Amino acid sequence: MKLAWLKERVPVDLDKLSELSNEPVPGHLKRWWFALGGTPAYLLMVQLATGLLLMFYYVPEPGRAYGSVAHLTHDVAFGWWLRSIHKWSASGMIVAVLLHTMRVFFTGSYRKPRELTWMFGAVLLFLTLAEGLSGYSLVYEQLSFWGATVTSNLAGAMPGIGGFARRLVLGGDEVGPATLTRFFVAHVAIFPALILVAVAAHIALVRIHGMSSETRFKAQATEPKTFPFVPDHLLTELMIAITLMVLLDVLAVRFPASLGDPANAAITPEHIRPEWYFYFAFRWLKLTTLRIGVLGVFVAALVMLFWPFVDGGLRRLSKRDLSIGFGVAAVLVVVIFTIWEALA
Ligand code: HEM
Repeated sequence: MKLAWLKERVPVDLDKLSELSNEPVPGHLKRWWFALGGTPAYLLMVQLATGLLLMFYYVPEPGRAYGSVAHLTHDVAFGWWLRSIHKWSASGMIVAVLLHTMRVFFTGSYRKPRELTWMFGAVLLFLTLAEGLSGYSLVYEQLSFWGATVTSNLAGAMPGIGGFARRLVLGGDEVGPATLTRFFVAHVAIFPALILVAVAAHIALVRIHGMSSETRFKAQATEPKTFPFVPDHLLTELMIAITLMVLLDVLAVRFPASLGDPANAAITPEHIRPEWYFYFAFRWLKLTTLRIGVLGVFVAALVMLFWPFVDGGLRRLSKRDLSIGFGVAAVLVVVIFTIWEALA
């Protein structure tokens, strides 16, 4: 096919397009700590690809869900591998988002004019956690069932809208067919679509403002001031992607996704525990009453979402920068509660 034929039908200026996609990147992005935003983006692609393939076999119906996962794990060629990569990549995405959040926080890159970039980022963190929570319940093993029950109880304890939120999650008064349909639609359609929209807005804002520079860090003398996105930064991202693919494979082979006992509403398991990324919240909930626990999580999420403005207010009030101390305290609480729950 002649290029002229295509150009006539798709009259896009390719030179302008390559100029747009090849903005010079600041030198400090050579350091991996600063380039962490690309990692959750790559793992999101892994999640979408493996998730689509898992859907070929998964049946979102209480009587058949567990059997379809068992069939995929034991009979389908490489089914166990797909499930394991999907599971490990979900954990990896959460680790990457948390590390990226810490780098953005501790370098003060959320400050004016990047408040909205931060807010879209915070929404991405919440949506990534919601993906983990909803995916966990689809397997319909004992922990999925009781996990969904705990989730609906937490929704029920929300101030003011508890009853409505609980019915919204359950699709009725208890975990049943409508609940699984809701978790399935949320996991494969609503949350991924929202994540894609939020990633697009987040990256558009990063492009519009350019990357922050020299907020709380000094450029190294050996670093160039800027370097081209293509091929330099693309190659860095590619190297990270290949390393992660190898790591995910090793984890999938060494620690494949397991399958517990099928869901049984009549038997409450002795230990109900969510995935590791909810350990800190789970520990917190154990230390308080349900209502205060849920209120605490809600307030913490609001502070995180509006942090650039909270930080601005604190700086005006105290004339000092308290953000590093606040950030260190928040990281310590999350780490200590997570380890505490893991050892319990
Ligand atoms: C799926 C999740 C996310 C993706 C794919 C993503 C992607 C990115 C990318 C590619 C960048 C460019 C710089 C870099 O590579 O680090 C970036 C910058 C940024 N991100 Fe994220 N991000 C995510 C989550 C978050 C979260 C949870 C926050 C904070 C709550 C956040 C806040 C920011 C801010 C403020 C910047 C601008 C940093 C600067 O200019 O130095 N992002 N993000």
